[in-house]
Amino acid sequence: MPHYPPEPFRIKVVEPIKLVSPAERQAAIAEAGYNVFALKAKDIFIDLLTDSGTGAMSQNQWAALMQGDESYAGARSYFRLKEAVEDIFGFKHFVPTHQGRAAENILSAVLVKPGCSVPSNMHFDTTDANIRARGGRPVNLVIEEAFDPANPHPFKGNMDMVKLKAYIEETGPANIPLGMITVTNNAGGGQPVSMENIKAVAALYHSYNIPFYIDAARYAENAYFIKLREPGFADKAPIEIAREMFSYADGFCMSAKKDAIVNIGGLLAMNDDEIFKHVSNELILREGFVSYGGLAGRDLDAMAVGLYEGLDEDYLAYRLGQTAYLAGLLREQGIGLIEPPGGHAIYLDAGALLPHIPHAEFPGQSLAVEMYLEGAIRACEIGSVMFAHPDQDTGEMIYPRLELVRLAIPRRTYTQSHLDYLAESIGKIAKRAGDLRGYKFTYAPELLRHFTARFEPL
Ligand SMILES: Cc1ncc(COP(=O)(O)O)c(C=O)c1O
Repeated sequence: MPHYPPEPFRIKVVEPIKLVSPAERQAAIAEAGYNVFALKAKDIFIDLLTDSGTGAMSQNQWAALMQGDESYAGARSYFRLKEAVEDIFGFKHFVPTHQGRAAENILSAVLVKPGCSVPSNMHFDTTDANIRARGGRPVNLVIEEAFDPANPHPFKGNMDMVKLKAYIEETGPANIPLGMITVTNNAGGGQPVSMENIKAVAALYHSYNIPFYIDAARYAENAYFIKLREPGFADKAPIEIAREMFSYADGFCMSAKKDAIVNIGGLLAMNDDEIFKHVSNELILREGFVSYGGLAGRDLDAMAVGLYEGLDEDYLAYRLGQTAYLAGLLREQGIGLIEPPGGHAIYLDAGALLPHIPHAEFPGQSLAVEMYLEGAIRACEIGSVMFAHPDQDTGEMIYPRLELVRLAIPRRTYTQSHLDYLAESIGKIAKRAGDLRGYKFTYAPELLRHFTARFEPL
């Protein structure tokens, strides 16, 4: 029996949820065009669409909201956030943004020019799309082990250093305005990156004078994985590990909706004075003044508190323990998932579960729809719906190597019995996997199509 870690908190406020009937689920998913993004939250029992902005804030965060200073410029809230950001991340400049993609948009507006390339281990969908939207080319160079779901490599988010060096040589450093790495690697299973790899990536980028930015959405979970798995870090606190991770970078962009445990917010930081000037101008044009970046003062305060709570060791042990527990329940039923489980989510191997559904008929979409029909569970396809795209040179459709369904666990939100219910529902689907059918688009936009596409069952 997998171990469930007792929560290091107790519940003070509850939010009711309701299991709607199978007939209501059928009607709801058809009305949504078989896209779970178009479902109404009231029709969902367990919502694992994302861990982004969906966590529960603590009593200290709610208390901090009340101290929000709503001054347009130079608010006290900004300075409280500044203190936390400087303490943890240590960059010379930072701006708040309303969420991660706003930080990516501003960074791309300042650095990405048409025809240039931006390598990373794996870009997440919004980073990928923001680079493409500026005419750039996002390039994913994660290690090969990342594509083998059963491989137990402890740091499957690592960059492949041989591929990265070859890519820089081939493309020319002048065509690479920045290099990135995503910690943890959300698009590739929530897998961590080792400190050794971060250090090596930084050194390689810097040897070619390429600025190095971290996509830091889940930096605290990454730091805790380093503590658990990388020799030499067992006795270090997550905050010390985080400080070392960022000491190798020139800047970072971050969705604070993850490891800062807030419902809205983001950060963009850098050391370079010139880049900061351009960033400030873009921010003022698109988001708001530099001391609030599209957020309310109270949001800045909640973030300042949440940044430390996300690094708390008892919280991180519970957080990673919860995902490991769910992975254990699924493994017991022989359900394929990306191993070892990531920090924020379990990634079901939909390609392996539904080998009779080809990439072009979206196996992950089929599984996500079935999870809703079976248990009113909402999960997110991370496969061909999200990532297939025509080659920028030949126009040929390129499919991702893995067809996944992500069960993202909101922070401090669901309990053991919710996870048991989830595992039981997925087990029932696995027993009738051969009956599931694929889907086709009836509408799909060009970029970020998973959000608004509509489908028809085949
Ligand atoms: C690794 C990573 N980067 C960036 C983002 C974008 O953040 P946001 O949703 O706050 O715009 C996400 C969101 O899921 C993410 O996982």
